[in-house]
Amino acid sequence: MIQNITCIGAGFVGGPLGAVIAYRCPNISVTVVDKNASRIDSWNSDALPMYEPGLSDIIAEIRQRKNMCNLVFSCEIEKAIHEADIIMLCIDTPTKKFGIGSGMALDLGHIQAAVRTIADVATTDKIVVEKSTVPCGTASRIQDLLVSGSKGNCKFEVLSNPEFLSEGTTVTDLLHPSRVLIGCQRTETGRQAAEKLAEIYKRWTSPELIITMDQWSAELSKLASNALLAQRISSINSLSAICEAVDANIDSVVEGCGSDPRIGNKMLHSGIGWGGSCFPKDVAALVYLARSLGLNTVANYWNAVLEMNEDQQTRFVKRILGCMQRCINGKNIAVLGFSFKKDTSDTKHSPSIKLVRGLLVEGATICVYDPMVSESQIRTDVSPSKDDSTRLRVFSTADEACANADAVVVATEWDEFKTPEALLASHQVNLINGVNGSETNDVGMNGAHEISARKKVDWHSIVDNMKQPAFIFDGRNMLSSQYFENLSCRYVGIGYSSRWDDVHYPLL
Ligand code: UDX
Repeated sequence: MIQNITCIGAGFVGGPLGAVIAYRCPNISVTVVDKNASRIDSWNSDALPMYEPGLSDIIAEIRQRKNMCNLVFSCEIEKAIHEADIIMLCIDTPTKKFGIGSGMALDLGHIQAAVRTIADVATTDKIVVEKSTVPCGTASRIQDLLVSGSKGNCKFEVLSNPEFLSEGTTVTDLLHPSRVLIGCQRTETGRQAAEKLAEIYKRWTSPELIITMDQWSAELSKLASNALLAQRISSINSLSAICEAVDANIDSVVEGCGSDPRIGNKMLHSGIGWGGSCFPKDVAALVYLARSLGLNTVANYWNAVLEMNEDQQTRFVKRILGCMQRCINGKNIAVLGFSFKKDTSDTKHSPSIKLVRGLLVEGATICVYDPMVSESQIRTDVSPSKDDSTRLRVFSTADEACANADAVVVATEWDEFKTPEALLASHQVNLINGVNGSETNDVGMNGAHEISARKKVDWHSIVDNMKQPAFIFDGRNMLSSQYFENLSCRYVGIGYSSRWDDVHYPLL
C-alpha cells in the first residue's frame, strides 16, 4: 500500500504534479523537495514560484483540509527519501553545455546526484519513477547506480513515466491526461511496480488511458512525441514561407490540409517559431541519439526540424526590416509578449529573444511589454551588448511600450492583445468546445480570471499614438488584417503575402 510519495525537484513538473497527486489522493502524503530554499519558501507562501492557471486554487484547497493537509514543500531531501514508497524524479535535464554532446545531449548531472542520494539514504524498498525527459536507456543506468550505491538490502524498481503536460495548461493536463505511459522492466517485480504506480493514476484517470510498456519505449515515446509536435509546427512554418512568396494564405492551407481527419488541424498554427523548455532540447536530444547510433540520415532528418525553426525566426526579423524600407536604425519598435507562449512566465528558448536581439542589432530602440515576465528576466535573456543595452527598454503596460512606436510586433499570443473580434470569436469557440464548462473546470481557474481582469489592449489608442506609417507585425497570426487596415495601419502577418514586403528583391 502506497502511503508516501516524494517528488524530487519543485519546478514546473514536480510542484504541480505533487499538488495534483495530493489533491486527488487525500490519503497519500506527498512531499515535494528541492535543495533551492527560496523556491521552497515561495511554494510555502501565497506567491507561488510559477504562474499556472488553477494551481494556486488546488493548493489552497489542499491546505484548507483541516488537520489533513497532505502536501508538504520542504528542503529536507534525505528525510523525504527515507519516508517515501515512491520517489518521482522531477529534476531538470538541460541540454549539455560542455564536452562530448555539447549543445545536443541532455545533462544528467542533477538526476545522477539525486539517484546517489536515494541509494545512500534508502533503508526500505523504493519505486523510483523518471518523470523528467531523459536519454533512452537512463532507467537501466539509474537501476545500476541504485543497486551499486545502496548500503542496505532494499530493492529498487525504476519506472519510466514521462510527463506530457504543457505549460499554461499544466493543471488541466495533469487532471485530464491524454494518456499515462508506464515503462517497466520485463520482470514480475517490474510489472508489480508498474501496477502500483498505475493504481495511483487510476484514482482520477480511466484505466484504458494507462499504457504499460518497456522502459526504452516509454523514454523514446517522450522524445518522439515532442519531436513529432515540433516537426508539425516546423512543417507548417516552412509552408508559411512559400505562402508569403507566392501570394497564398497559410490559414487556407491549414484548413485545406487540416480538414483531412488523418492530418487534423491541431499544432498547425504558423508563427515566429516554437520555444519552451521541451521542444528545443528534446528534438536536439533525438538528433544526438540518432547520431550516436550511427543513423546519420535519421539525425539529419530531425535536425532539419531544428534548422527550420531557426530559419523561421531569422526570416521574421528580415521581413520586418524588408517591410520598413530596409532600415530600422533609430526607429522605435514595441514588442508585445516575451514568454515563449501565452499563460506562462517561462521564457526558455522564447522566439522573442532572437527577435529582440535581431532588431537591436539593426539599431532600433526596442520597447518590450509582457504581462508576466520581469524586466530582469528579459535583460538576462537578451543579454544585450553595452551599446545595445540602453536601446532595450521594458515597460509595465502595452500603452507605454507602444507610445511613439514606428512598429508594434506581437510576439506572444496573450489574450489581452486580441482585437475585439478575435476575442469574441475565441469566446464563441470556447463556448462550443466547453472550455471553462463543468467538465474541465473542476478547479477554479484563478489564473484565467487574473488574465481576463487585466486591461485589454486598446488598439485604437495605440495606433493613434504611433508614428506614421504605422506597422503591425503579427508574429502569432492572432490579429485581424482587416481591423488594422480600417485603422490605416500596415498589417503584416506570417504566411500571407504583404504589399509592404519587398519579395522581388529580398534581403540576403
Ligand atoms: C510541449 C508539449 O506540448 C508537451 O506535451 C510536453 O510535455 C512539453 O512540451 P509546451 O512546451 O508547454 O509543451 O508548449 P506547447 O503548447 O506545446 O507549445 C510549444 C511551442 O510551440 C510554443 O512556442 C508555441 O507557441 C508553439 N506552437 C504551438 C506553435 O508555434 N504553433 C502551434 O500550433 C502550437
